[in-house]
Amino acid sequence: MIGAGNVGATVAQRVVEAGVADVVLLDIIAGLPQGKALDLAEAGPLLGHDVSVIGTNDYADTADSTVIVVTSGLARQPGMSRDDLLLKNAQIVNAVVEQAARHSPNAVLIVVTNPLDAMCHVALKASGFPRRRVVGMAGVLDAARFRTFVSMELGVSPVNTCAFVLGGHGDTMVPVPRYATVGGVPLPQLMSQEQIDRIVQRTRDGGAEIVSLLKSGSAFYAPGAATAEMIYAILEDRHVILPCSAQLKGEYGVDGLFVGVPVRLSSVGVEEIVQVELNEEERAAFGRSAAAVQELVGKLGTYA
Ligand code: APR
Repeated sequence: MIGAGNVGATVAQRVVEAGVADVVLLDIIAGLPQGKALDLAEAGPLLGHDVSVIGTNDYADTADSTVIVVTSGLARQPGMSRDDLLLKNAQIVNAVVEQAARHSPNAVLIVVTNPLDAMCHVALKASGFPRRRVVGMAGVLDAARFRTFVSMELGVSPVNTCAFVLGGHGDTMVPVPRYATVGGVPLPQLMSQEQIDRIVQRTRDGGAEIVSLLKSGSAFYAPGAATAEMIYAILEDRHVILPCSAQLKGEYGVDGLFVGVPVRLSSVGVEEIVQVELNEEERAAFGRSAAAVQELVGKLGTYA
């Protein structure tokens, strides 16, 4: 786990408590990852987990990791868009991925740092990994937010809901209500268009809603859970279809860009990009979202 801040530490907690892997927390701040790792380990006797969890500032301690999760960077502050973070976080992601990938050349890399899709480009270049081993966490979180709002609106259990979100992890993301279901029933049969539109908009604003409530920092419980979901899929070779940012090579009519699509995730990373049929409106929204990602990637210069 590169970055032992709110998201990195929350992911570490989930993985350690699930007992699925040894965890190394790394941060640039001396003492921070060591303190959080020790604190997590000390919960072991109470919670019954016995995987190893260590904190470090030295990449040598991360050697031969199966999965590298990159959360290092600056989090959004109120009034700050994900895009404002672009160049600062590109510099950080470039530096940390270069080092982490050198020590774990066979790892699958999960990028969490925002602006997400652009940071995937930075990570792909800095790691030199094949595209299937670089994947971004966005759609799992955005879909979880969408599902939460559906469950609140209908008064049903969130686990009863299913949905995915396409496109970039930003204001242009594309929730696809047509494919969302509750207990197998398509959402449009359960809600009015007005309700759906409201939920779609709240999903798009989901990150900002948390930022404005917290006042300092951004969301970490749901991002942590979403990242852990992807880690389990990879570590346990689960072959699950999850919405993730993956580099497209012709799929969805996009070439070379990282953008959110349903992928089949397994121990090899992105095993398959799943192509779903989109109607004209969805295709147009996806195109606008991809264009927004392209614009950011264009600003990355030598980082991409
Ligand atoms: N090397 C290692 N760690 C670094 C570096 C670096 N070069 N630069 C920053 N960090 C660390 C910080 O010291 C901090 O502990 O990254 C951590 C980031 O943690 P937080 O500030 O708590 O941010 P967090 O809420 O975890 O979000 C991290 O995930 O969801 C995204 O938008 C969010 O881009 C942000 C990222």
